[in-house]
Amino acid sequence: MKIIKTNTYEDMSRIAANLIASQVTVKPNCVLGLATGSTPIGTYEELVKRVKSGELDFSEVTSINLDEYKGLSPENDQSYRYFMNEHLFNHINIKKENTYVPNGLEADAVKACADYDAIIKKFGPIDLQLLGLGPNGHIGFNEPADHFVPSTNCVDLAQATIDANARFFSSIDEVPKQAYTMGIGTIMQAKKVLIIANGAKKAEIVKKAFFGPVSPQVPASILQLHGDVTVVVDAEAGKLLD
Ligand code: F6R
Repeated sequence: MKIIKTNTYEDMSRIAANLIASQVTVKPNCVLGLATGSTPIGTYEELVKRVKSGELDFSEVTSINLDEYKGLSPENDQSYRYFMNEHLFNHINIKKENTYVPNGLEADAVKACADYDAIIKKFGPIDLQLLGLGPNGHIGFNEPADHFVPSTNCVDLAQATIDANARFFSSIDEVPKQAYTMGIGTIMQAKKVLIIANGAKKAEIVKKAFFGPVSPQVPASILQLHGDVTVVVDAEAGKLLD
C-alpha cells in the first residue's frame, strides 16, 4: 500500500487525476471504477480540464460506478447517475453508452444486483477503481457488517451514512434508506485501487482503515490485503499518520 500525503484538497485532486490520466493514457480502452461524493469532485474537475485541453481522451474508456440510491431516477438531482453526468460525463468525450451506474429504479433488488454483476462480468476486472472513504469506513455503500459481501448487493444505509449525506437533500427524511452497491469482492478484484480522503473529519477513519486490524466492521480495511492500493490524503485527513 502506497500512502501519499499532500498538503491541500487541490493537491490531492491533482495527484488522483494524474493517476487516472496515466491509466487512461497507458490503456485507452481501460475500465474505470468511479465514485461519487464530495471527495472526487476536484479530481473530476482536473480530468475535465485535461480533456478540454486535448491532453486526455476518454473516447474508448468504459466506466462502472460503485453505487446508486434505490428508488432514485437518473433525472433526480440527488441520484448518482445525475452526479456523474454533472461532474464528469457531460464534460468529457466518454461515450454515455459506455458508462454504467446501478439502476436505482429497479425495485427488484435481486434483479438489479444480478444485472449489475453481469455488466461487471462483461467488462471487468476493473483496471483502476477510484474510491472515497465513508466516515464509518464504508467503501461504495458497503457498510460495517459481520462479513465482507462479495458482489453487488442492496444495503440498508447506516445511520452515519444517512446523517453524512443529509447535507445534499432538503431534509434528512428525503435521504433514501437503501442503495445498490458494488460488492467488496468486485472492488478487491480491481487491478489497481486509488482511494482518496480529505478533511479533518476523515483523519481517524483513515488511520483505523489503513493501520488498524482488517475487519468487516471497517470495510475499507480489507484494502490492506490488496496488492496495488494507493491512498491519497490531504494534510488534514493524514494528520494522524506518521
Ligand atoms: C460514493 C461512495 C461512498 C463515498 C463516501 C465518501 O459513490 O461510494 O463510499 O465515497 O461516502 O463520501 P464523501 O466523498 O462525500 O465524503
